Amino acid sequence: MRSLITGTGSYAPAKVLTNADLEKMVATNDQWIVERTGIKERRIAAPDEASSDLAYQASLRALEQSGVKAEDLELIVVGTITPDYPFPSCAAVLQGRLGNKKAFAFDVSAACAGSLYALSVADRFLTSGQVKNALVIGVETLSRITDWTDRNTCILFGDAAGAMVLQPTDDPRRGLRSVKLHSDGSLVSILLMPGGGSREPISQKVVDAKSHYVKMNGREVFKVAVRALEECCREALAEEKLSPSDVTWVCAHQANKRIIDATLQRLDLPPEKCWMNLEKYGNTSAASVPMTLDEANRAGWLKPGDVVLMMAIGAGMAWGASVLRW
Ligand SMILES: CC(C)(COP(=O)(O)OP(=O)(O)OC[C@H]1O[C@@H](n2cnc3c(N)ncnc32)[C@H](O)[C@@H]1OP(=O)(O)O)[C@@H](O)C(=O)NCCC(=O)NCCS
Repeated sequence: MRSLITGTGSYAPAKVLTNADLEKMVATNDQWIVERTGIKERRIAAPDEASSDLAYQASLRALEQSGVKAEDLELIVVGTITPDYPFPSCAAVLQGRLGNKKAFAFDVSAACAGSLYALSVADRFLTSGQVKNALVIGVETLSRITDWTDRNTCILFGDAAGAMVLQPTDDPRRGLRSVKLHSDGSLVSILLMPGGGSREPISQKVVDAKSHYVKMNGREVFKVAVRALEECCREALAEEKLSPSDVTWVCAHQANKRIIDATLQRLDLPPEKCWMNLEKYGNTSAASVPMTLDEANRAGWLKPGDVVLMMAIGAGMAWGASVLRW
């Protein structure tokens, strides 16, 4: 028995923030942003929109496609680092909003790899027979933890949600195969939000120092990302006795076009196999992989049995790759 994705959905807030808008906020320009990242615009949640609101919209779309009713969900796992509240989980808030009473619901914190981590957790519950259906979400409102005066970070991030409904299948040609996850906690300092947690609880000092915003050493992140993603993709494929040439489609975390291009090149995978949307949404962290999968799915890219290679990396550093037979 394997987990099959029977529905996908995504949602991005209406407000568009373009590179031209950013030019008015920090010392940057459209050409620099496009050349270094591939991003042209990103979406920003409305003041009254929190992560669970974005997740709710994406969930409705995935549930509708799968035919599973919200009240019948048995597991809800949300990958996010920007939950509505420090506690309880975004998953619990979402469950309430969906009017579901049957599921157990919790968040997974693995930054941009959050949805792959969440997918892997849900897969274990499904394949062990403990649940018959699961809702896996990646959602972020990174705009709320972005320093809009820091040009090193504010050009990168956007808000969005992606959702996947998982159900078991006995079809040997289909379903989730290998999921390889890794983390390296020696790299915490290259990408983190230092303030607002138990080490530096929120205080005037934290706010004045802007420690409640994302801090990043972009160059270091870049270096680690390309190497880690390549190795991890090879590992996930090897477990299935597949090589990169067997891959039909790639669903990559949309962090930076140069990271994706370099990783694909190392894997000898043509860029046409990889669905891209970061020019429209920027880096939406945990939302990125399920949102990208949803776009590819709704565009009719994915056919039953296709080999889909998924990959993501983010703060921790935490990363993963997965092979899926659509
Ligand atoms: C952030 C990132 C785009 C920066 O690109 P880079 O090529 O590494 O650029 P650098 O940081 O080396 O900066 C190069 C120059 O551009 C300048 N610069 C930095 N940000 C700029 C901006 N937004 N606009 C214009 N110039 C900028 C720098 O000050 C530097 O100028 P200098 O040479 O005069 O000192 C890139 O490092 C990156 O994408 N890293 C990965 C980030 C990521 O994906 N994070 C999330 C992981 S999930």
